[in-house]
Amino acid sequence: MSLIREIDYGTPAARSIAEVVTLTIDGFAVIVPEGTSIMRAAMEVGTAIPKLCATDMLNSFGSCRLCLVEIDGRPGMPASCTTPVAAGMVVRTQTERLKTVRRGVMELYISDHPLDCLTCAANGDCELQDMAGAVGLREVRYGYDGAGHTHEAKDRSNPYFDYDPAKCIVCSRCVRACEEVQGTFALTIEGRGFDSRVSASAHESFLTSECVSCGACVQACPTATLIEKSVIEIGQPEHSVITTCAYCGVGCSFKAEMRGEEVVRMVPEKSGKANRGHSCVKGRFAWGYATHRDRILSPMTREKITDPWREVSWETAIYHAASKFKRIQAKYGKDSIGGITSSRCTNEETYLVQKLVRAGFGNNNVDTCARVCHSPTGYGLKATFGESAGTQDFDSVEHADIIMIVGANPTDGHPVFASRMKKRLREGARLIVVDPRRTDSVRSPHIEAAYHLPLLPGTNVAMLTAMAHVVVTEGLVDEAFVRSRCEWDEFQEWAAFVADARHSPEEVARICGVSAQLIREAARLYAGARNGAIYYGLGVTEHSQGTSTVMAIANLAMATGNIGRPGVGVSPLRGQNNVQGSCDMGSFPHELPGYRHVSDSVTRGAFEALWGRKLDDEPGLRIPNMLDAAVTGSFMGLYVQGEDIAQSDPNTQHIVAGLSAMECVVVHDLFLNETANYAHVFLPGSSFLEKDGTFTNAERRIQRVRKVMAPKAGLADWEATMALSNAMGYKMTYKHPSEIMDEIAALTPTFTGVSYAKLDELGSIQWPCNEAAPEGTPVMHIDEFVRGRGKFVITEYIATDERSTRRYPLLLTTGRILSQYNVGAQTRRTANVVWHGEDRLEIHPYDAEQRGVADGGWVKLESRAGATTLRASITDRVAPGVVYTTFHHPETQANVVTTEYSDWATNCPEYKVTAVQVSLSNGPTEWQQEYEDHSHASRRIAGLAEAAD
Ligand code: SF4
Ligand code: SF4
Ligand code: SF4
Ligand code: FES
Repeated sequence: MSLIREIDYGTPAARSIAEVVTLTIDGFAVIVPEGTSIMRAAMEVGTAIPKLCATDMLNSFGSCRLCLVEIDGRPGMPASCTTPVAAGMVVRTQTERLKTVRRGVMELYISDHPLDCLTCAANGDCELQDMAGAVGLREVRYGYDGAGHTHEAKDRSNPYFDYDPAKCIVCSRCVRACEEVQGTFALTIEGRGFDSRVSASAHESFLTSECVSCGACVQACPTATLIEKSVIEIGQPEHSVITTCAYCGVGCSFKAEMRGEEVVRMVPEKSGKANRGHSCVKGRFAWGYATHRDRILSPMTREKITDPWREVSWETAIYHAASKFKRIQAKYGKDSIGGITSSRCTNEETYLVQKLVRAGFGNNNVDTCARVCHSPTGYGLKATFGESAGTQDFDSVEHADIIMIVGANPTDGHPVFASRMKKRLREGARLIVVDPRRTDSVRSPHIEAAYHLPLLPGTNVAMLTAMAHVVVTEGLVDEAFVRSRCEWDEFQEWAAFVADARHSPEEVARICGVSAQLIREAARLYAGARNGAIYYGLGVTEHSQGTSTVMAIANLAMATGNIGRPGVGVSPLRGQNNVQGSCDMGSFPHELPGYRHVSDSVTRGAFEALWGRKLDDEPGLRIPNMLDAAVTGSFMGLYVQGEDIAQSDPNTQHIVAGLSAMECVVVHDLFLNETANYAHVFLPGSSFLEKDGTFTNAERRIQRVRKVMAPKAGLADWEATMALSNAMGYKMTYKHPSEIMDEIAALTPTFTGVSYAKLDELGSIQWPCNEAAPEGTPVMHIDEFVRGRGKFVITEYIATDERSTRRYPLLLTTGRILSQYNVGAQTRRTANVVWHGEDRLEIHPYDAEQRGVADGGWVKLESRAGATTLRASITDRVAPGVVYTTFHHPETQANVVTTEYSDWATNCPEYKVTAVQVSLSNGPTEWQQEYEDHSHASRRIAGLAEAAD
């Protein structure tokens, strides 16, 4: 628990700490880095110079004139926020002259400010109030009827914060936060003098403006002008707890500001190394799902999936699940059950589920939802670099000169990283976007990609090989790097392969649909970078050649020497908050924690010694194989923690057939999700606010998740798994998740130095953390690759079998949107639905016209796997021949359409390419109707009104 307010130093830290300067402030000697402002230098020694327009998240602006100081030998009273320190400078922050001027300034502010401090929501957390006190304001000679905006109406349109112009002091902090921190440029100050006011877009409401609700302006506002609705409703928080966002793989660190057990607001932590004080709408505002009425707070069981649920005690539910699992194993063999871990749960919970499967069930039938997103990353980066993770920290982007984004949409999927990247682009870095869609990264305020390569879905490998062709044939290889750091023979074979004429941009242009000239110029730009960085997402991995694409990216980075220092690297933008961690923790059927193969007897021996059980040396079943085996009758029991495979996995009809065939499906979740429609036992899950643990973000950064309220259903998830294990006869006795982390550290070489004590001390740790790197590893492969020498792998382009045909002439690709998250189970239960209440099909005007499709009209989307209906949005963000949709809403059933094709190495589904036809629709398909009816029926709880979705 900590105090509410973080120290505000007034201006950002100096960029370089190489040179320091000594000066005197109020008689005290101060030593600070060159370039530090006088305001910050004073704060470093505990002297808070009065200020209003300055805050350390923003560059100094110098508009309020409250922070004036006197400097010996200099005329006037310079603003301390805009004046840098100089050697030998003698500064006075408090003189009679300064006091008089500051009071005068405050008098003017207060004369145009409503005096309702006692009933103002910011009472106790208002910098204007604080400054009135700090300067000793005792009278206002001009009266209180300023000609300002006290009559103006509030804007309450945003679901999470209000804008009250009456309280605005026009300090511009909000405008600058929107520009400098978020990079959206949604706000301006319009008008002059007393008429000036903050305006969203062109005098629109916040809701209809370009605002993306990140909340940076609210955080920056020193008054109650921009304030969270939750603070207005609840009041000021009284304590705070530092924890980690449970949404995306950026892993923003937050202060959960609390009043008792009630969250008042989430404030991004300035010292959070992933987010540096910023956040997006999801982490800052969309936490209401944790207390949503749909949460199931009692364990439930039923014999058949057509029966209504019956609420039971934890003991009964656990006993029921364990005895069913044991009966299934007795009847069908020990391999007939398995488990699915969650990338939304903590490392400790994930570790326990795989331990339960391996030691308790006695097989390796454990898999994770990373199977459907980033499993090719693990495989591809391990093969080339020797470690299954991204190479950089997010700070690295600040040193990149050329940034290449492949198959990722960071402004929607990884918004805080996108803001940091956009800041770097505004500083002059250049951008290459490889994506079938014209995403916001391609063009947004003050950002324009140097090159956008709008390739056809499914042609990544051909495109990247063509770029490599340019690098090799135009003499752009960093030979010194390759000779000293990589396998030279393999490089030569690879270079000969990519140099073949069939990989030239001129040949590949026909496959990718992108001109040869664009490919050549983009390749030259990347190869010529002083620091070239590649960031990629699911548009790379969710293909039949996902692993090949990851390896093609790694090849390109090695060939150009862009590995092993800040500003370069290969960084997968992970989708879910703990997808890196769930993979690290041994969630795949062939790997023990730390990515060690189950057939490795030495590793297995270490686990066997500590776990006290003989472990299977054969890889277990992957999720699709579990479902196949269920249909054929050899896999009959499944424990699913925190995942919704019926909505998130491809080919829904196949998933449903597999789940329906099982004798015992145990779903452990917050809500009755789609998978729970096929479950026999429901164990209520706990939200991230209700448990201790750790998440590992896309930078390999391990961060604490801290409990701010008691588990609403009585048990945290790790406690429920432990109870199930004990009931199965495999004893687990942890008293706190820190003990689970100690066990992980003891068994996993990359985690050797990790403990809760060290996490508390350092704030976060990027693995590997061990004797060689006791405080972790921000950038990997610095002097040598983890595997020794970097390995070039030949990546032959093999077109997916999923091709457009006469019957299915369009290519469907899928993705996500800023306000929603994954299957939407959380975000659909928040006010975020105002921005995205349904999944829509994006279709190019040409394709729409051919089919008579109207904007907003209902269409049928059909592939050879199935059909669904949704409404259309006509847009040229997609090219002709390509359609796009999100999959956040279960009604859409977007995955009814996606096929069973998957990555050759990892089975990661090919979500990003499905041949489809779009036609006008007469309403929901038969399948959608049946599904809806079944969902309704299967959510009945005996004695209660039907649980709503
Ligand atoms: S919420 Fe974010 S995007 Fe919206 S105006 Fe404020 S800073 Fe800009
Ligand atoms: S809304 Fe707040 S931050 Fe913006 S100008 Fe007004 S007082 Fe300053
Ligand atoms: S969703 Fe991602 S970017 Fe947004 S606050 Fe959470 S971790 Fe940060
Ligand atoms: S804080 Fe320096 S001028 Fe406003």
